[in-house]
Amino acid sequence: MWTLFGGYKLVSLLVPTAISLIFLAFHPAAFEVQKPRHKAPDVIIYSGTNFTGNIKCNVFFPGCTPVCKQLIGNVKSLQSTKGTCMKFYTTADCSGAPVSYRSAFKMFESDGRGIDNLTDTPAIEWKAIGDCKQETGVPDGSVALFPKKLYQGKPCNVAVTSKCNNVCTGGGGATIQKSQSFIANVECCSLYASKNCSGDVLHYIRKGQKGYGWEDYDTAKYFKRFYRISSIGPGCL
Ligand SMILES: *[C@@H]1O[C@H](CO)[C@@H](O)[C@H](O)[C@H]1NC(C)=O
Ligand SMILES: *[C@@H]1O[C@H](CO)[C@@H](O)[C@H](O)[C@H]1NC(C)=O
Ligand SMILES: *[C@@H]1O[C@H](CO)[C@@H](O)[C@H](O)[C@H]1NC(C)=O
Repeated sequence: MWTLFGGYKLVSLLVPTAISLIFLAFHPAAFEVQKPRHKAPDVIIYSGTNFTGNIKCNVFFPGCTPVCKQLIGNVKSLQSTKGTCMKFYTTADCSGAPVSYRSAFKMFESDGRGIDNLTDTPAIEWKAIGDCKQETGVPDGSVALFPKKLYQGKPCNVAVTSKCNNVCTGGGGATIQKSQSFIANVECCSLYASKNCSGDVLHYIRKGQKGYGWEDYDTAKYFKRFYRISSIGPGCL
């Protein structure tokens, strides 16, 4: 899955900062020139893997920023700093969720500089990147399980409460309605393969992952387990 990346150290970002501070120490006038300082972009997307390429587009938060025209369908890497949370959309104004929604992503320490290779990922569809306050169309504190891929069809919204909640049943209360995509609009929860939150946890939605969505469980072997989601409980890692 493309959200699981790691590797780089922030050192490479810190070195140029240190150099410019030394420069400023010896050239106080240059400091004046730097004012008023513009805010650094929250996210930078590139047309090449590994934060390279001819085209580069800055994204500023808060709000919703359309992907630069030349980069639509062509985003190959993404750089951001630790702690930044972003949401991806297939509409230019971050609207039309959830069908147009393509997950949230939060930079953790292990993500290093960012995502170095977005080739053959949903990034091909991005038209806008918003901060994590942008709407997903899913009720707050619940997980929406969709009967079709790409968040299509009428979802079963499962509230995440202090007790366990089974996913919607297919009729007569017996059969669990299996999902093919989901959006977790909740900070923390545990997904189970069995009813009543019995048995093993399939996956945890971690703190900071509110808004995460999986649009297609077939994209990676690990995510095929989501077809078995049968109940959802509180608690996470
Ligand atoms: C990016 O560069 C690093 C360091 O040179 C390398 O280890 C990594 O494999 C590269 N990744 C891609 C996607 O090119
Ligand atoms: C980037 O990912 C694609 C698709 O998985 C792969 O074919 C390609 O070799 C990767 N590029 C680099 C530089 O690692
Ligand atoms: C779930 O709980 C209900 C009510 O307590 C019980 O009737 C049912 O057998 C349980 N099912 C499983 C799979 O644990």
